Amino acid sequence: MESVMVVLGTRPEAIKLCPLIKELKQRGKYEVRVCSTGQHRAMLDSALEAFDVKPDFDLDVMRTGQTLSTVTARILKGIDEILEAERPSLVLVQGDTTTAFAAALSAFHHRIPVGHVEAGLRTYHMDSLFPEEFHRQAISLLSSVHFAPTVSAKKNLVKEGRAESSIFITGNTVVDALRFTLTQKKPYRRWSIPEACRLVVFTAHRRESFGEPIRGMFRALRSLVEAYPDIIAICPLHHNPEVRRAAAEILKGEPRIRTVEPPEIVSFHHLLSKAYLVITDSGGIQEETVALGIPTIVTRYSTERQEGIRAGVLRLAGSGEEGIRELGMRLLAPKSEEYEFMKKPSAVFGDGNASVRIVDAIEKML
Ligand code: UD1
Ligand code: UDP
Repeated sequence: MESVMVVLGTRPEAIKLCPLIKELKQRGKYEVRVCSTGQHRAMLDSALEAFDVKPDFDLDVMRTGQTLSTVTARILKGIDEILEAERPSLVLVQGDTTTAFAAALSAFHHRIPVGHVEAGLRTYHMDSLFPEEFHRQAISLLSSVHFAPTVSAKKNLVKEGRAESSIFITGNTVVDALRFTLTQKKPYRRWSIPEACRLVVFTAHRRESFGEPIRGMFRALRSLVEAYPDIIAICPLHHNPEVRRAAAEILKGEPRIRTVEPPEIVSFHHLLSKAYLVITDSGGIQEETVALGIPTIVTRYSTERQEGIRAGVLRLAGSGEEGIRELGMRLLAPKSEEYEFMKKPSAVFGDGNASVRIVDAIEKML
């Protein structure tokens, strides 16, 4: 039997690959192996648990404060040994993380074909997102098959010289994940938001914003909450110590801002679905709020999810305090027409069947 190895290491990779792992296993045509690099720990484990996926291998590479080169080297070395022993027919990676890049490079060294899930997203600015834009472009060079979520993503790949026959437009598996989580009956965390209040969900974790920009984002959130007494903000804090330091400094003492440990994905998706407004620099959350039709301020100057801007749900505010505050004030104003215009779900990122399409393509390929 041919074997497929799925490599993942961070929270978003788990969320976007678990639906695909389940589909691969369900077809029963391949031996499916899951390798976790453990680039994240708590945040990864809770996502895997929600989907009931147990990795066959765990490299456990996470160390607090390690450099990008160190984590890349540790993953390369660990994956190298596993691929040498297992020799799968195909390695699947997702997105733009160090895990995805190092696993693709190692598979390439072993001459094992790489399939890239969520291929073709681009800002074409190497410092935004850093280091993700480099990872994406490098993974495209290393991959034999590209699962592009959208037509625009496919166009980027074709423009860069990838063969059309190697690209499949599949939608994004994050929508498959949303379908699963929002229909889960098992207990998830409930949020006691008073009826009369509007909920703002806020997240920040991008490396290029560390330091003054991330503090400015938190200050912007605080001033929005202070300006509108009916707002409650929930702010799940990424485990990166840089994020936690800035939040502790700026947000303390405001009772209508609740900083919480990152909820696992079922609880988080239920939280998002109740939000009036989302403010985020996350990639995956942009796709989710577009699918749910929840107006979203993106705290960046560029996004590789332009489809969400065109759909009207996402608005770029830049990462500066004043830009975020100004847009937030307008969208939160009573009877804001701008807000109403943004509030419509869109299927630009997928219809919930991306995993099925990806496995269909793999069946053709193997
Ligand atoms: C990584 C990805 C980024 C992705 C993000 C998703 C890279 C270079 N970056 O960024 O593209 O958007 O994951 O969240 O791959 N930590 C913990 N526990 C955890 C997770 C993280 O303590 O469960 C702390 C550790 O101190 C760790 C630090 O966060 O060293 C940074 O983690 P790392 O994976 O290097 O980068 P992220 O900022 O999470
Ligand atoms: N997420 C979660 N709990 C949280 C915050 C985010 O489960 O407290 C999920 C979110 O729904 C999305 C994914 O994590 O599916 C996004 O991960 P992150 O923002 O860390 O990374 P990015 O998508 O920016 O790479």
